[in-house]
Amino acid sequence: MATVVVGGQWGDEGKGKITDILAEGADLVVRYQGGANAGHTVVVAGEAFKLHLIPSGILHPNCICLMGGGTVIDPLVLHDEIEGLQARGYSCDNLRVSHTAHVVMPYHKRLEELAEQARGRGGIGTTLRGIGPAYTDKAQRMPRPVRFRDLTDAGRLRELIAAQLQQKNVIIQHQYDQPPLTTEEVFDQVWPAAEQVSGYAVDGCRLVQESVRAEKRIVFEGAQGTFLDLDCGTYPFVTSSHPVAGGACLGTGIGPTAIDEVIMVCKAYTTRVGAGVLPTEDEGDAGQLLRDRGNEYGTTTGRPRRCGWLDGVVARTAAMLNGATSIAVTKLDVLDSLATIPVCIGYEIDGVMLDTVPSWPDDFEKVKPVYEEMPGWQQSLDEVRQWSQLPAPAQAYVERIADLTGVPVSIISVGHGREQTVFIG
Ligand code: IMP
Repeated sequence: MATVVVGGQWGDEGKGKITDILAEGADLVVRYQGGANAGHTVVVAGEAFKLHLIPSGILHPNCICLMGGGTVIDPLVLHDEIEGLQARGYSCDNLRVSHTAHVVMPYHKRLEELAEQARGRGGIGTTLRGIGPAYTDKAQRMPRPVRFRDLTDAGRLRELIAAQLQQKNVIIQHQYDQPPLTTEEVFDQVWPAAEQVSGYAVDGCRLVQESVRAEKRIVFEGAQGTFLDLDCGTYPFVTSSHPVAGGACLGTGIGPTAIDEVIMVCKAYTTRVGAGVLPTEDEGDAGQLLRDRGNEYGTTTGRPRRCGWLDGVVARTAAMLNGATSIAVTKLDVLDSLATIPVCIGYEIDGVMLDTVPSWPDDFEKVKPVYEEMPGWQQSLDEVRQWSQLPAPAQAYVERIADLTGVPVSIISVGHGREQTVFIG
């Protein structure tokens, strides 16, 4: 049984919690794209674990956790994350990293920092984790970038760094007028962590293929969200990988027919970090209330997230782009205090109504959301564990999400804790 958990908005939907819950019965959890730009929070017995690279299944020792070939790995972050988990009693013996995954190097982070500084207010607002430059090198192919298996061989790593710096230093010195990086300084920064983490390397593609053949229970954990996808998202304000469900095939080496279900995680309202269109954004008190109640501050960068109402057009389009088979609605409790809740049910553009997202970014910028007001429930959902315990207006809100997307809701989350979850059906 292979399940993809995918974000249906702009990331930060609560995929970490849903993946952690599904990992309970899983043999393998696989991250298929992205890198340390992600920030997945899992809360166990009131203790919060913030994961950037390692799959959210890591807290289940019997579940193997793989970083797939489509991810980009920063060895320094990986090393810190493993040490942090080990200090809290999780051995990480169940961790694996695909040997073909590309490595985020210090020059990627430096180049991104210089590029974003140069773009100024017109920038993408990236997480500055070197993600874009690492994927750029992957697509460029030559000089051959560093891949995870290269971290096992000091001589090879030095050669690859030297070849990369010949090219990178031209940009750093001549485009940005900054001092060049030396092979030794980059090597010295990376090698101590590389020595510690390179032992996790495996043939990730083979591991996933064999697990599919043996009919193991596999969860593919998406990072970021549908509208941050390089092809399907709000380009150019997107990330450099493929968060959509199809990315699970590219990033791990399985065919689309190996996927049995796609659970799209959809927060009960909308948030976004960084620049780009956000039609239902509320920059006033209501947006601030969502930010405060939902603790909407970036796990990776600490930036306040932009907040707004549930966007049914975004959810419907995402359901189609991912082939969602069911939806997990998260953070429903954040709406507890509201008397009425606006829900965007369509877009108006130049007098024409739309029920899906325009694929041309300039058109998307022009849309005006059309809202319907839904009654709030004005009571705490903290203790709700079953559908029947949800107040009628909260049931109606969840049912409206299913109506707008045409996809049934299978999971509702009403708090951080594993137990604060309602399963439907
Ligand atoms: P990058 O992935 O660091 O290149 O950033 C590109 C865009 O994706 C920026 O708008 C980031 O804020 C956004 N982004 C990247 N990772 C996440 C995430 O995990 N959650 C939410 N937004 C993200």
